[in-house]
Amino acid sequence: MCGIVGAIADRNVVPVLIEGLKRLEYRGYDSAGIAVVDGQDVRRVRRTGRVAEMEGAAAGEGFRSSLGIGHTRWATHGGVTEANAHPHISHGVALVHNGIIENHEEQRERLRALGYEFESQTDTEVIAHLIHHHLKQGTDLLQALQRVVKELTGAYALAVVSRKEPERLVCARMGCPLLVGLGEGENFVASDVSAIIQATRRVIFLEEGDTAEVARDRVRVFDADDQPVQREEHVSDVSLASLELGPYRHFMQKEIHEQPRALGDTLEAVIDAAGFEPSLFGAGAEDVLQQVEGIQILACGTSYYAGSVARYWIESISGLPCSVEIASEYRYRTVVANPKHLVVTISQSGETLDTMEALKYAKSLGHAHTLSICNVPESAIPRASRLVFYTRAGAEIGVASTKAFTTQLAGLFLLAATLAKLNGRLDAEQEAGYIEALRHLPGSVQHALNLEPQIASWAERFAPKQHALFLGRGVHYPIALEGALKLKEISYIHAEAYPAGELKHGPLALVDADMPVVVIAPNDGLLEKVKSNMQEVRARGGELFVFTDQDSNFGESEGVHVIRTPRHVGVLSPIVHTIPVQLLAYHTALARGTDVDKPRNLAKSVTVE
Ligand code: F6R
Repeated sequence: MCGIVGAIADRNVVPVLIEGLKRLEYRGYDSAGIAVVDGQDVRRVRRTGRVAEMEGAAAGEGFRSSLGIGHTRWATHGGVTEANAHPHISHGVALVHNGIIENHEEQRERLRALGYEFESQTDTEVIAHLIHHHLKQGTDLLQALQRVVKELTGAYALAVVSRKEPERLVCARMGCPLLVGLGEGENFVASDVSAIIQATRRVIFLEEGDTAEVARDRVRVFDADDQPVQREEHVSDVSLASLELGPYRHFMQKEIHEQPRALGDTLEAVIDAAGFEPSLFGAGAEDVLQQVEGIQILACGTSYYAGSVARYWIESISGLPCSVEIASEYRYRTVVANPKHLVVTISQSGETLDTMEALKYAKSLGHAHTLSICNVPESAIPRASRLVFYTRAGAEIGVASTKAFTTQLAGLFLLAATLAKLNGRLDAEQEAGYIEALRHLPGSVQHALNLEPQIASWAERFAPKQHALFLGRGVHYPIALEGALKLKEISYIHAEAYPAGELKHGPLALVDADMPVVVIAPNDGLLEKVKSNMQEVRARGGELFVFTDQDSNFGESEGVHVIRTPRHVGVLSPIVHTIPVQLLAYHTALARGTDVDKPRNLAKSVTVE
């Protein structure tokens, strides 16, 4: 949720740190800071608010150095204050931290007894003092860090510099991503490759429990037992274009418009092969998928809604039972596990803590068959899973997930169809039909995107509202949920979604002229049922905003506004119907003047509970 960047070079690294923090800002944006080793001293600048404010302060104070670390924060322990912003310093040791230290109270007491005083309310300051405490015992910075991490419980990615050791920085990882970037005569650390891509694409992903020493001309990695290890070098293929705004006003708008391309890339392999092959899900997938007798999906937020759509597909297409559960619920309840079920985790970032912990819990219950649907290569959740399907949405920077969601849906549809084929429930004709539908999907999504001006005109009417209700039925009910989530998180309008049939069991009481009701009403087998539900709303004076297909034969009337998405695309309809609800949320937020890409209180990837 927070972002880390660090650099050591022959040049001034301050611009590298600032640029890196700007690229990481989407991960957390309460406050930002950098610390540099300058001669015999460690200098620090921190500011609440955005990186740009901290940048101005650093320039004003003439910050320059060839060694430094930086951080952008999403507050967990302690409020949003300058004192709580990172880096934290203890006697010339400066440190940045992502994650949460669970035993920080206990360590704080210990350190207080040793005479340390605390300036912040953070768990991080404890680590800085602990490192200093070990340095006092005669260790060097790397040894001190290696000792300290053994005294910590919780999750961390750490980068540390000391005024006494101006030739290196040291870092450690447990439960939060951290990588080392390899340059020519200069090296870097970062929580996310986007932070250093302007300097290098060659990266080493640290493993759980690793520590590393990063000097100008060498990098040494140590495992959890402090033994030197070689970790594989990767060349990142993250495109610079995906990290830049280009002609768009916001990353969210850009990412909404990237969906035809993102879907095309994600579906490329299956369309080229003209068939659903288990190998789409990695080596050995056929063996695994052939054995499974059911599916358990685990995810959070928007990814959970993707899983909720998939349940309809998996049960109706493959005939396998499928349950979907919010990861933070699953991980804390007594689960009756069936090890013959495939556990599918869905995560854009691949590092959501609750999803990761739910996966670990499922494995501890005997689930050996695991599959991750993920957008970030080499992230923690796919690495902990037996099988992987990578969506190829490209970097998603806007906090509100858009292209990740639709590409997750594409991946989940491929799973449903592949399972059906393995179960003998998909004949050649049906398979060819699905492939044809997938081939047309990017085009249908583009048609839906072309509705933007009409949807923007609706947004003007939503902007002054306090509340909104979203309705859908069947496989489109999760799209109503996703529409309500998008609207609330970026426009701050309170929005709820219900299965339309549930309306009269309570939520109908909310309906009046001030409650816009958005209905996802495609021309499927449930359209007539949805129409009756709409009558219930109209009869109570509610105003309806209906997204329906070209061929639904559904007209406008007083209090009933209609936007027609392209011709009904059959089973893939939820993907196409996602586009209008994304655009509605985006334009409503725009009309309300909120910070679309960085909505209040949120951050992109949730690596804390
Ligand atoms: C909403 C949103 C979140 C994420 C959720 C899970 O727009 O983006 O609800 O979907 O935090 O994140 P991932 O998919 O990274 O596990």
